[in-house]
Amino acid sequence: MVFYVKQGRMPESRHTYDSRESILREELFGEESFEGPYSLLYHLGEPTRVKSLSRKEKGSLAKGSQAEMRHRHIKSFDIEARGDFVDGRIPLMFNSSLVLSVVKPLNETKRLYRNAVHDEIWFIHKGSGLLETMLGNIAFQKDDYLYIPKGTTYRISGASGIEAFLVESRQRCSIPPRYLNVYGQIKEGAPFYTRDIRVPSLAKPDDSPGEYIVMVDYGDYFLEELRDRNPFDVAGWDGYLYPFAISTRLMAPIVGKLHQPPPVHETFSSPSFMLGTFLPRKFDFHPRSIPISYYHSNIDTDEVLFYSSGNFMSRRGISPGSITLHVRGLIHGPQPGAMEAAIGKEGTDEIAVMVEAYEPLMVTSSALKAEDAGYMESWYK
Ligand SMILES: [Fe+2]
Repeated sequence: MVFYVKQGRMPESRHTYDSRESILREELFGEESFEGPYSLLYHLGEPTRVKSLSRKEKGSLAKGSQAEMRHRHIKSFDIEARGDFVDGRIPLMFNSSLVLSVVKPLNETKRLYRNAVHDEIWFIHKGSGLLETMLGNIAFQKDDYLYIPKGTTYRISGASGIEAFLVESRQRCSIPPRYLNVYGQIKEGAPFYTRDIRVPSLAKPDDSPGEYIVMVDYGDYFLEELRDRNPFDVAGWDGYLYPFAISTRLMAPIVGKLHQPPPVHETFSSPSFMLGTFLPRKFDFHPRSIPISYYHSNIDTDEVLFYSSGNFMSRRGISPGSITLHVRGLIHGPQPGAMEAAIGKEGTDEIAVMVEAYEPLMVTSSALKAEDAGYMESWYK
Protein backbone atom coordinates (compact mmCIF):
# COMPACT_ATOMS: atom_id res chain seq x y z
CA MET A 1 0.00 0.00 0.00
CA VAL A 2 1.47 3.33 -0.97
CA PHE A 3 -0.82 6.15 -2.13
CA TYR A 4 -3.28 6.85 -4.93
CA VAL A 5 -1.75 7.53 -8.35
CA LYS A 6 -3.55 8.40 -11.59
CA GLN A 7 -1.84 8.74 -14.99
CA GLY A 8 -2.90 8.92 -18.63
CA ARG A 9 -6.44 8.70 -19.95
CA MET A 10 -9.37 6.64 -18.76
CA PRO A 11 -13.18 6.83 -18.68
CA GLU A 12 -14.80 9.10 -16.11
CA SER A 13 -16.08 6.08 -14.16
CA ARG A 14 -14.60 2.60 -13.78
CA HIS A 15 -16.16 -0.22 -15.81
CA THR A 16 -17.47 2.19 -18.46
CA TYR A 17 -16.36 3.51 -21.87
CA ASP A 18 -16.02 6.96 -23.35
CA SER A 19 -16.25 6.15 -27.04
CA ARG A 20 -17.96 3.18 -28.68
CA GLU A 21 -15.37 3.35 -31.50
CA SER A 22 -12.31 3.09 -29.24
CA ILE A 23 -13.21 1.20 -26.08
CA LEU A 24 -10.24 0.94 -23.74
CA ARG A 25 -9.76 -2.55 -22.29
CA GLU A 26 -9.89 -2.30 -18.52
CA GLU A 27 -7.80 -4.72 -16.47
CA LEU A 28 -8.00 -4.97 -12.68
CA PHE A 29 -4.43 -5.58 -11.46
CA GLY A 30 -4.85 -6.54 -7.83
CA GLU A 31 -3.50 -8.61 -4.95
CA GLU A 32 -5.45 -10.77 -2.48
CA SER A 33 -8.22 -11.48 -4.96
CA PHE A 34 -10.55 -8.43 -5.05
CA GLU A 35 -9.77 -7.43 -1.45
CA GLY A 36 -6.16 -6.18 -1.54
CA PRO A 37 -4.45 -3.19 -3.13
CA TYR A 38 -5.15 -2.81 -6.85
CA SER A 39 -4.90 -0.57 -9.86
CA LEU A 40 -7.14 -0.33 -12.92
CA LEU A 41 -5.26 -0.41 -16.21
CA TYR A 42 -6.72 0.78 -19.53
CA HIS A 43 -5.18 -1.05 -22.49
CA LEU A 44 -5.54 -0.17 -26.16
CA GLY A 45 -5.84 -3.87 -26.98
CA GLU A 46 -6.89 -7.04 -25.23
CA PRO A 47 -4.36 -7.95 -22.50
CA THR A 48 -5.43 -11.59 -22.81
CA ARG A 49 -4.22 -11.86 -26.42
CA VAL A 50 -1.48 -14.55 -26.35
CA LYS A 51 -0.37 -16.33 -29.51
CA SER A 52 1.29 -19.30 -27.79
CA LEU A 53 2.58 -20.55 -24.44
CA SER A 54 5.48 -22.93 -23.93
CA ARG A 55 7.23 -24.25 -20.85
CA LYS A 56 10.94 -23.44 -20.41
CA GLU A 57 13.09 -25.00 -17.70
CA LYS A 58 15.09 -22.64 -15.53
CA GLY A 59 18.52 -24.23 -15.83
CA SER A 60 21.00 -22.09 -13.91
CA LEU A 61 18.15 -20.53 -11.94
CA ALA A 62 17.45 -23.82 -10.12
CA LYS A 63 17.63 -23.44 -6.37
CA GLY A 64 20.09 -26.32 -5.99
CA SER A 65 21.00 -28.28 -2.93
CA GLN A 66 20.40 -27.74 0.75
CA ALA A 67 23.06 -27.73 3.44
CA GLU A 68 23.19 -27.80 7.23
CA MET A 69 22.65 -24.63 9.26
CA ARG A 70 25.77 -22.63 10.12
CA HIS A 71 26.94 -19.04 9.93
CA ARG A 72 28.21 -18.41 6.42
CA HIS A 73 29.93 -15.74 4.37
CA ILE A 74 29.10 -15.86 0.67
CA LYS A 75 31.49 -13.90 -1.53
CA SER A 76 28.95 -12.85 -4.13
CA PHE A 77 31.62 -10.66 -5.79
CA ASP A 78 33.28 -13.93 -6.91
CA ILE A 79 30.15 -15.03 -8.81
CA GLU A 80 30.43 -14.36 -12.52
CA ALA A 81 27.93 -12.27 -14.46
CA ARG A 82 25.67 -14.27 -16.76
CA GLY A 83 22.64 -14.06 -19.02
CA ASP A 84 20.26 -11.12 -19.09
CA PHE A 85 18.10 -9.60 -16.33
CA VAL A 86 15.90 -12.73 -16.44
CA ASP A 87 18.51 -15.49 -16.19
CA GLY A 88 21.28 -13.39 -14.64
CA ARG A 89 19.62 -14.04 -11.27
CA ILE A 90 21.65 -16.38 -9.10
CA PRO A 91 19.59 -17.69 -6.14
CA LEU A 92 21.73 -18.11 -3.01
CA MET A 93 19.24 -18.78 -0.21
CA PHE A 94 15.59 -19.75 -0.04
CA ASN A 95 12.72 -21.04 2.03
CA SER A 96 9.08 -21.68 1.16
CA SER A 97 8.36 -17.92 1.09
CA LEU A 98 11.60 -16.29 0.00
CA VAL A 99 14.33 -16.47 -2.61
CA LEU A 100 17.42 -14.30 -2.07
CA SER A 101 19.61 -13.82 -5.14
CA VAL A 102 22.28 -11.67 -6.62
CA VAL A 103 21.58 -10.40 -10.13
CA LYS A 104 24.55 -9.85 -12.43
CA PRO A 105 23.37 -9.64 -16.02
CA LEU A 106 25.91 -9.76 -18.80
CA ASN A 107 23.59 -8.94 -21.69
CA GLU A 108 20.73 -6.67 -22.66
CA THR A 109 17.53 -8.27 -23.91
CA LYS A 110 14.30 -7.30 -25.59
CA ARG A 111 12.34 -9.98 -23.77
CA LEU A 112 9.95 -9.08 -20.98
CA TYR A 113 9.45 -10.71 -17.60
CA ARG A 114 6.57 -11.26 -15.17
CA ASN A 115 6.97 -12.86 -11.74
CA ALA A 116 3.87 -14.99 -11.19
CA VAL A 117 4.54 -15.94 -7.56
CA HIS A 118 6.84 -13.41 -5.89
CA ASP A 119 6.85 -9.72 -5.07
CA GLU A 120 10.35 -8.41 -5.79
CA ILE A 121 12.58 -5.98 -3.92
CA TRP A 122 15.77 -5.07 -5.77
CA PHE A 123 18.63 -3.28 -4.05
CA ILE A 124 20.91 -1.76 -6.70
CA HIS A 125 24.48 -2.43 -5.61
CA LYS A 126 26.17 -1.14 -8.79
CA GLY A 127 25.17 0.72 -11.95
CA SER A 128 22.03 2.38 -13.19
CA GLY A 129 19.24 1.61 -15.64
CA LEU A 130 15.61 2.00 -16.57
CA LEU A 131 12.80 -0.15 -15.21
CA GLU A 132 10.24 -0.29 -18.03
CA THR A 133 6.83 -1.58 -16.95
CA MET A 134 3.27 -1.73 -18.21
CA LEU A 135 2.52 1.12 -15.77
CA GLY A 136 5.41 3.30 -16.95
CA ASN A 137 9.12 3.73 -16.45
CA ILE A 138 11.36 4.47 -13.48
CA ALA A 139 15.03 5.47 -13.86
CA PHE A 140 17.16 3.98 -11.10
CA GLN A 141 20.74 4.05 -9.89
CA LYS A 142 23.10 2.62 -7.30
CA ASP A 143 21.71 2.59 -3.74
CA ASP A 144 18.06 2.59 -4.91
CA TYR A 145 15.46 0.04 -3.99
CA LEU A 146 12.96 -1.08 -6.62
CA TYR A 147 9.71 -2.64 -5.46
CA ILE A 148 7.98 -4.65 -8.20
CA PRO A 149 4.67 -6.32 -7.28
CA LYS A 150 4.07 -9.83 -8.60
CA GLY A 151 2.20 -9.80 -11.91
CA THR A 152 4.00 -6.72 -13.24
CA THR A 153 5.17 -7.11 -16.83
CA TYR A 154 8.56 -5.44 -17.11
CA ARG A 155 12.01 -5.19 -18.63
CA ILE A 156 15.22 -3.65 -17.32
CA SER A 157 17.20 -1.55 -19.82
CA GLY A 158 20.84 -1.02 -18.98
CA ALA A 159 20.81 -4.27 -17.02
CA SER A 160 24.22 -5.31 -18.35
CA GLY A 161 25.82 -2.63 -16.16
CA ILE A 162 24.10 -3.44 -12.90
CA GLU A 163 24.59 -5.68 -9.91
CA ALA A 164 21.74 -6.11 -7.48
CA PHE A 165 20.64 -7.99 -4.38
CA LEU A 166 17.16 -9.37 -5.03
CA VAL A 167 14.57 -10.46 -2.47
CA GLU A 168 11.59 -12.38 -3.87
CA SER A 169 8.67 -12.93 -1.50
CA ARG A 170 5.56 -15.04 -2.01
CA GLN A 171 3.78 -12.89 0.56
CA ARG A 172 3.08 -9.27 -0.17
CA CYS A 173 5.80 -6.80 0.85
CA SER A 174 4.89 -3.34 2.03
CA ILE A 175 6.04 -0.27 3.84
CA PRO A 176 6.00 -1.30 7.53
CA PRO A 177 2.42 -0.72 8.74
CA ARG A 178 3.77 0.86 11.96
CA TYR A 179 5.15 3.72 9.79
CA LEU A 180 1.64 4.61 8.61
CA ASN A 181 -1.03 6.61 10.41
CA VAL A 182 -4.68 5.54 10.23
CA TYR A 183 -5.05 7.71 7.11
CA GLY A 184 -2.32 5.74 5.29
CA GLN A 185 0.26 8.53 5.34
CA ILE A 186 3.86 7.86 6.40
CA LYS A 187 4.23 9.25 9.92
CA GLU A 188 6.81 11.63 11.34
CA GLY A 189 9.57 9.55 12.91
CA ALA A 190 9.79 7.00 10.09
CA PRO A 191 13.19 6.85 8.36
CA PHE A 192 11.68 7.88 5.01
CA TYR A 193 8.75 9.94 3.72
CA THR A 194 6.14 9.68 0.97
CA ARG A 195 8.01 12.30 -1.09
CA ASP A 196 10.98 9.92 -1.32
CA ILE A 197 8.94 7.34 -3.27
CA ARG A 198 9.27 7.49 -7.07
CA VAL A 199 6.34 6.13 -9.05
CA PRO A 200 6.37 5.03 -12.71
CA SER A 201 6.01 7.66 -15.37
CA LEU A 202 3.60 6.38 -18.01
CA ALA A 203 5.05 6.35 -21.53
CA LYS A 204 3.02 6.78 -24.74
CA PRO A 205 1.02 3.56 -25.18
CA ASP A 206 2.42 1.31 -27.88
CA ASP A 207 0.47 -1.60 -29.33
CA SER A 208 2.74 -2.06 -32.36
CA PRO A 209 2.55 -5.45 -34.04
CA GLY A 210 5.65 -7.63 -33.74
CA GLU A 211 6.99 -10.54 -31.78
CA TYR A 212 7.04 -9.99 -28.02
CA ILE A 213 8.21 -12.59 -25.51
CA VAL A 214 7.15 -12.45 -21.86
CA MET A 215 8.92 -14.88 -19.51
CA VAL A 216 6.35 -15.72 -16.83
CA ASP A 217 8.23 -16.98 -13.79
CA TYR A 218 6.58 -19.72 -11.70
CA GLY A 219 9.58 -20.24 -9.42
CA ASP A 220 10.84 -23.56 -10.77
CA TYR A 221 10.09 -22.98 -14.46
CA PHE A 222 8.97 -20.33 -16.94
CA LEU A 223 6.03 -20.13 -19.25
CA GLU A 224 7.14 -18.29 -22.35
CA GLU A 225 4.27 -16.13 -23.58
CA LEU A 226 4.47 -15.17 -27.24
CA ARG A 227 2.47 -12.07 -28.15
CA ASP A 228 1.95 -10.34 -31.48
CA ARG A 229 1.28 -6.88 -30.00
CA ASN A 230 3.41 -4.81 -27.64
CA PRO A 231 2.01 -5.40 -24.12
CA PHE A 232 3.07 -1.87 -23.09
CA ASP A 233 -0.20 -0.54 -24.51
CA VAL A 234 -1.62 1.04 -21.34
CA ALA A 235 -3.16 4.45 -22.11
CA GLY A 236 -3.91 5.20 -18.46
CA TRP A 237 -4.13 3.68 -15.01
CA ASP A 238 -5.04 4.59 -11.47
CA GLY A 239 -4.90 2.94 -8.09
CA TYR A 240 -2.66 1.84 -5.28
CA LEU A 241 -0.69 -1.09 -6.71
CA TYR A 242 2.35 -0.25 -8.83
CA PRO A 243 6.12 -0.58 -8.84
CA PHE A 244 8.10 2.15 -7.16
CA ALA A 245 11.65 3.17 -6.33
CA ILE A 246 13.12 4.70 -3.21
CA SER A 247 16.68 5.90 -2.75
CA THR A 248 18.58 5.01 0.39
CA ARG A 249 20.41 8.34 -0.06
CA LEU A 250 17.19 10.14 0.98
CA MET A 251 16.57 8.01 4.04
CA ALA A 252 17.17 9.40 7.51
CA PRO A 253 18.55 6.68 9.81
CA ILE A 254 17.44 6.70 13.44
CA VAL A 255 20.27 7.06 15.95
CA GLY A 256 20.29 7.27 19.74
CA LYS A 257 22.24 7.64 22.95
CA LEU A 258 22.71 3.86 23.04
CA HIS A 259 23.06 1.24 20.29
CA GLN A 260 19.82 1.02 18.32
CA PRO A 261 18.36 -2.42 17.50
CA PRO A 262 17.85 -3.47 13.86
CA PRO A 263 14.07 -2.81 13.76
CA VAL A 264 14.73 0.97 13.74
CA HIS A 265 16.36 0.42 10.34
CA GLU A 266 13.34 -1.40 8.86
CA THR A 267 12.46 -0.46 5.26
CA PHE A 268 10.00 -3.15 4.10
CA SER A 269 7.96 -5.74 5.94
CA SER A 270 6.05 -8.87 5.09
CA PRO A 271 4.50 -11.74 7.07
CA SER A 272 7.57 -13.86 6.28
CA PHE A 273 10.49 -11.43 6.71
CA MET A 274 11.55 -7.91 7.51
CA LEU A 275 14.07 -5.95 5.46
CA GLY A 276 16.18 -3.18 6.95
CA THR A 277 18.85 -0.82 5.68
CA PHE A 278 22.00 0.13 7.58
CA LEU A 279 22.91 3.61 6.40
CA PRO A 280 25.73 6.10 6.93
CA ARG A 281 25.08 7.54 10.39
CA LYS A 282 26.52 8.96 13.58
CA PHE A 283 27.09 6.45 16.32
CA ASP A 284 25.57 6.43 19.80
CA PHE A 285 26.38 9.46 21.95
CA HIS A 286 26.59 8.01 25.46
CA PRO A 287 30.15 8.82 26.66
CA ARG A 288 30.89 5.13 27.28
CA SER A 289 28.76 3.63 24.51
CA ILE A 290 29.91 0.55 22.64
CA PRO A 291 28.92 1.56 19.12
CA ILE A 292 28.68 -1.92 17.70
CA SER A 293 26.16 -4.70 17.80
CA TYR A 294 26.10 -6.71 21.04
CA TYR A 295 26.11 -10.51 20.91
CA HIS A 296 22.69 -11.81 20.00
CA SER A 297 20.74 -14.98 19.43
CA ASN A 298 18.19 -14.70 16.66
CA ILE A 299 15.99 -17.33 18.20
CA ASP A 300 13.22 -17.16 15.59
CA THR A 301 14.98 -15.82 12.52
CA ASP A 302 17.83 -16.34 10.12
CA GLU A 303 19.60 -13.05 9.44
CA VAL A 304 21.13 -12.17 6.09
CA LEU A 305 23.25 -9.10 5.44
CA PHE A 306 24.27 -7.83 2.02
CA TYR A 307 27.19 -5.44 2.42
CA SER A 308 27.12 -2.88 -0.37
CA SER A 309 29.53 -0.04 0.41
CA GLY A 310 31.55 1.61 3.17
CA ASN A 311 33.70 0.24 5.92
CA PHE A 312 32.05 -2.68 7.71
CA MET A 313 33.51 -2.23 11.14
CA SER A 314 31.66 -5.06 12.84
CA ARG A 315 32.83 -7.81 10.49
CA ARG A 316 36.33 -8.89 9.65
CA GLY A 317 37.03 -10.13 6.11
CA ILE A 318 33.92 -8.52 4.66
CA SER A 319 33.99 -6.58 1.36
CA PRO A 320 31.38 -4.87 -0.82
CA GLY A 321 29.25 -7.66 -2.27
CA SER A 322 29.77 -9.95 0.74
CA ILE A 323 26.67 -11.69 2.09
CA THR A 324 26.56 -13.14 5.59
CA LEU A 325 24.01 -15.60 6.92
CA HIS A 326 23.66 -15.82 10.69
CA VAL A 327 21.34 -18.67 11.59
CA ARG A 328 19.03 -19.41 14.48
CA GLY A 329 20.41 -21.74 17.14
CA LEU A 330 23.94 -20.28 17.02
CA ILE A 331 24.90 -17.06 18.82
CA HIS A 332 26.58 -14.32 16.78
CA GLY A 333 28.01 -10.85 17.31
CA PRO A 334 31.31 -9.00 17.12
CA GLN A 335 34.40 -10.98 16.23
CA PRO A 336 37.30 -10.94 18.73
CA GLY A 337 38.78 -7.44 19.05
CA ALA A 338 35.94 -5.70 17.19
CA MET A 339 34.34 -4.28 20.32
CA GLU A 340 37.60 -2.71 21.54
CA ALA A 341 38.29 -1.33 18.07
CA ALA A 342 34.81 0.24 17.84
CA ILE A 343 34.98 2.24 21.08
CA GLY A 344 35.49 5.92 20.35
CA LYS A 345 34.42 5.73 16.70
CA GLU A 346 32.00 8.50 15.79
CA GLY A 347 30.13 7.15 12.80
CA THR A 348 29.98 4.81 9.84
CA ASP A 349 29.68 5.25 6.10
CA GLU A 350 28.30 1.74 5.53
CA ILE A 351 25.32 0.80 3.38
CA ALA A 352 24.06 -2.73 3.99
CA VAL A 353 20.74 -4.51 3.50
CA MET A 354 19.45 -6.87 6.18
CA VAL A 355 16.81 -9.56 5.72
CA GLU A 356 15.43 -11.35 8.77
CA ALA A 357 13.70 -14.50 7.52
CA TYR A 358 11.18 -16.05 9.87
CA GLU A 359 11.49 -19.55 8.36
CA PRO A 360 14.86 -21.34 8.14
CA LEU A 361 16.87 -20.49 5.03
CA MET A 362 18.54 -23.15 2.90
CA VAL A 363 21.58 -22.28 0.82
CA THR A 364 22.03 -23.18 -2.85
CA SER A 365 24.92 -24.89 -4.56
CA SER A 366 25.81 -21.51 -6.16
CA ALA A 367 26.18 -20.04 -2.66
CA LEU A 368 28.31 -22.95 -1.45
CA LYS A 369 30.65 -22.50 -4.43
CA ALA A 370 31.24 -18.86 -3.42
CA GLU A 371 31.51 -19.54 0.32
CA ASP A 372 34.35 -18.31 2.54
CA ALA A 373 34.88 -21.63 4.31
CA GLY A 374 36.66 -20.13 7.33
CA TYR A 375 33.88 -17.76 8.39
CA MET A 376 32.47 -19.89 11.21
CA GLU A 377 35.93 -19.91 12.87
CA SER A 378 36.26 -16.11 12.64
CA TRP A 379 34.84 -15.86 16.19
CA TYR A 380 37.42 -18.32 17.51
CA LYS A 381 40.65 -17.06 16.01
FE1 LIG B 1 22.91 -10.00 13.77
